[in-house]
Amino acid sequence: MKRSLINARRNFWYCFYYFFARHLPVSYRYQPLGKFGKMCRAVACRRLFRACGQRVNVERGANFYTGWEMEVGDDSSLGINCMLPFDLKVGKNVMMGPEVIIIGENHRFASIDVPMRLQGYQEYPPVRIEDDVWIGARVTILPGLKIGNGAIIGAGSVVTTDVPSYAICAGNPACVIGFRGGGSRNAVGSISHKQPSETCSDTP
Ligand SMILES: CC(C)(COP(=O)(O)OP(=O)(O)OC[C@H]1O[C@@H](n2cnc3c(N)ncnc32)[C@H](O)[C@@H]1OP(=O)(O)O)[C@@H](O)C(=O)NCCC(=O)NCCS
Repeated sequence: MKRSLINARRNFWYCFYYFFARHLPVSYRYQPLGKFGKMCRAVACRRLFRACGQRVNVERGANFYTGWEMEVGDDSSLGINCMLPFDLKVGKNVMMGPEVIIIGENHRFASIDVPMRLQGYQEYPPVRIEDDVWIGARVTILPGLKIGNGAIIGAGSVVTTDVPSYAICAGNPACVIGFRGGGSRNAVGSISHKQPSETCSDTP
């Protein structure tokens, strides 16, 4: 297909999403409008994302820039008013609370002679969220990280390092407070570089 036609289609679905579908009600309220909003957002995202699984739920207000490199697995959801990078990789059965922020890049700041806004961006590999992850409300995830299979991230946490599979993490910086299935929090301790040998509960 001609590139100009592909671009025209993308631009159409981009406008459809950002000017219309994104503003329709959340999927679980004001029926039948909620279901209509959910359907419109899903239709647009199937055309915008590089890969979009079955039964993906994109909630009201979700922002993913162009979304051109996004991959979202079956039965996953992107939460209300989330702010996501355009190249996020999300596995299957992922749940996301409202107002989650996932950051895809940092400003460069090495030089003190040039304003930081003119130093460009440091690039990272895409943030990867594996299968069956629950991300609580207002979580922030920093660039380049991997959230392992089955992990839970508590509300309001700031995730600064990779999260191991089945870990329950919380706090700022987020650290392991337990493991699903009853594993001891001392199994790996903190996931924060700043507290290598401590757990959250050891921190004053
Ligand atoms: C992470 C979470 C699942 C943990 O639940 P839990 O296993 O029942 O944990 P507990 O309530 O027993 O708390 C265990 C410890 O972690 C701390 N903790 C729990 N959640 C925390 C959070 N979000 N931030 C910081 N600390 C947290 C508790 O204060 C407690 O500390 P203590 O042992 O020093 O007293 C839950 O607290 C949470 O944040 N859920 C997210 C809810 C949400 O965002 N829903 C949005 C809709 S999808």
